[in-house]
Amino acid sequence: TGIWLIPLHTIVTPANVPDTYELPEWLTSMYPQAHDDVQQCMAQGEEGYVLRAWPAGNQSTSNSHTGYPHSTATLISDTSSDDRHPTASESSSTTNTTSNGSRLIILASSPEGVLYGTFHLLRHMGTGQPLDQLTAISRPANRLRMIDHWDNADGSIERGYAGQSFLYENNAFTRDWDRLHDYARLLASTGFNALSINNVNVHATETLFITDAFLPDVAEIANILRKYAIRLYLSVNFAAPMEAGGLSTADPLDEAVRRWWQEAAANVYRYMPDFGGFLVKADSENRPGPFTYGRDHADGANMLAAALEPHGGQVIWRCFVYNCKQDWRDRTTDRARAAYDHFQPLDGKFADNVMLQIKNGPLDFQVREPVSPLFGAMQQTHQLLEFQITQEYTGQQRHVCYLVPQWKEILDFDTAVNDRFAPVKQIASGSIWQREWNGIAAVGNVGADGNWTGHLLAQANWYGLGRLAWEPDTRAETIAREWAMLVFGMDTEVVETITTMLLDSLSIYENYTSPLGIGWMVNPNHHYGPNVDGYEYSPWGTYHYADHMGIGVDRTIATGTGYTAQYAPINRDRYDSLESCPDELLLFFHHVPYTHVLHSGKTVIQHIYDTHFEGAEQAAELIARWQTLEGRMALGLYTQVAERLAEQAEHAKEWRDVINSYFYRKSGIADVQGRVIY
Ligand code: GCU
Repeated sequence: TGIWLIPLHTIVTPANVPDTYELPEWLTSMYPQAHDDVQQCMAQGEEGYVLRAWPAGNQSTSNSHTGYPHSTATLISDTSSDDRHPTASESSSTTNTTSNGSRLIILASSPEGVLYGTFHLLRHMGTGQPLDQLTAISRPANRLRMIDHWDNADGSIERGYAGQSFLYENNAFTRDWDRLHDYARLLASTGFNALSINNVNVHATETLFITDAFLPDVAEIANILRKYAIRLYLSVNFAAPMEAGGLSTADPLDEAVRRWWQEAAANVYRYMPDFGGFLVKADSENRPGPFTYGRDHADGANMLAAALEPHGGQVIWRCFVYNCKQDWRDRTTDRARAAYDHFQPLDGKFADNVMLQIKNGPLDFQVREPVSPLFGAMQQTHQLLEFQITQEYTGQQRHVCYLVPQWKEILDFDTAVNDRFAPVKQIASGSIWQREWNGIAAVGNVGADGNWTGHLLAQANWYGLGRLAWEPDTRAETIAREWAMLVFGMDTEVVETITTMLLDSLSIYENYTSPLGIGWMVNPNHHYGPNVDGYEYSPWGTYHYADHMGIGVDRTIATGTGYTAQYAPINRDRYDSLESCPDELLLFFHHVPYTHVLHSGKTVIQHIYDTHFEGAEQAAELIARWQTLEGRMALGLYTQVAERLAEQAEHAKEWRDVINSYFYRKSGIADVQGRVIY
């Protein structure tokens, strides 16, 4: 089969004027659908593409006058060439092919489109699908498809579970360009187009990344990323004018501060003309921000936006702003309310090149949380949906936990704002209100480990996020199966076993950890392993309020914190009422007695016991399921997963026993099945 990569601007004159283009005859004569496909292609925009195969014998021959080969495997690799036909030497390099071979074309209006189309083709082949029937028309749903690194210059990774950073060590860049190359290629292969390379908590060394001390290295990274159509972003320290510039203030309305940022931005663009912009965590978890100066977050973000605007850069401003020094005795302050309370009143006040980055839930990437009510509540503001691929609260890549089903649920959630169908995926993509700058950003899960992600199966989350950011309607099962095929090959038993293990893994993990949407219950600081009261008497706003009678946070309007009122009416009413609140989120929204009967017909306490016994059993079964694959893949792949699954099963037992014992001791209510509880 011949593969032609034909960038549109090489055959369309003049480019970007759909009504007046002409296709060369050599193309239309051998490619009957050329006209239609070119139109489709142009409709896909800069990053989209058309892939088309047509079988042997279905095209006319000849074309000797153009020199265009009848045959195959012609690669037009120089996308900058104008209206260029293959040269004689290029043609001759393919003379081993026949004149009636089937043909395959990748049509795109930009080099990026060709790149993504090529990866589509590779995925198609890698998943064993027939080439001669390939028809695909695709473009990304989201403009920004971004990974946020939480890597620190000292080589550590905040919430990293796959070894040290491959970007930094000892407060310098590793300059491991080979790995970076591989990484960029992997990112592009699933459609990512943006990368922030340092932690949102910007420490002393990283504060200087936007200065001449580090910009040469940063620019080298950008050079590699650019080959794969990925734009580089930097997390910046809001207090940089003081810490790097020696000013006495970082007040966003101070003229000297504004000038300092303008000069800093201009300097960054001297090194990287296509630099993406700044990512900012301000006034959050002890980071500096505009509140120090009595300014609001629009003042802060717009000041940076003004510095970047002349160069085409963006500010990505995080909404993870809450009081992390709360008094646990104070039951009126509700951390879940914080993002909405801080940002919703500012809707319409942000500059056009500001995007607000909003975590998927109101708390912090728990196994189960409702969707953040900020989605849909800021219709005049560019928004990015933030997910966490790194498994901070979902097993730290020691447990298998395929997160794509969770992300799908969030993307499909109907915010019902303005009484219309308004799913999060349309808000994230900006399509709902025709917002220009939107998308999905996710905290990455890779490190220096040989397999990138520590747990081999955690690669599926990274892959899955890329696929969903490109096309949110892709099914979780499709993604799991694709990933399994691309990594392990076409052995059906291997692929099906891994696919089902992945698909079951999130509910297994949820079963043996925090119940019914309550969250936390982990060891403080590192967040691994069960500790029911670990965050109960802390300043972090992370409470479950369990006593001998019941458990849960009352977030209702009448008797609770009123958080439910942040949702549009349909969702507000559904969550506010005990009758209609879904079981899986019950304890997030309501404080109930252990004897409260769920929609499932079980009491809360029996649900806790049953899910924890079941979850631990399911974790043990994962080992047996994996064992059926022994000998069907390279030993190294087999063993590394087997080891992690063994550890997971052990830790699932720990979770089961800690959670069950805690609630048995608190409530005094026995398990109806009389199983062992300590
Ligand atoms: C979580 C995480 C922190 C991180 C923070 C953030 O709280 O535990 O390590 O810095 O999220 O998203 O900024």
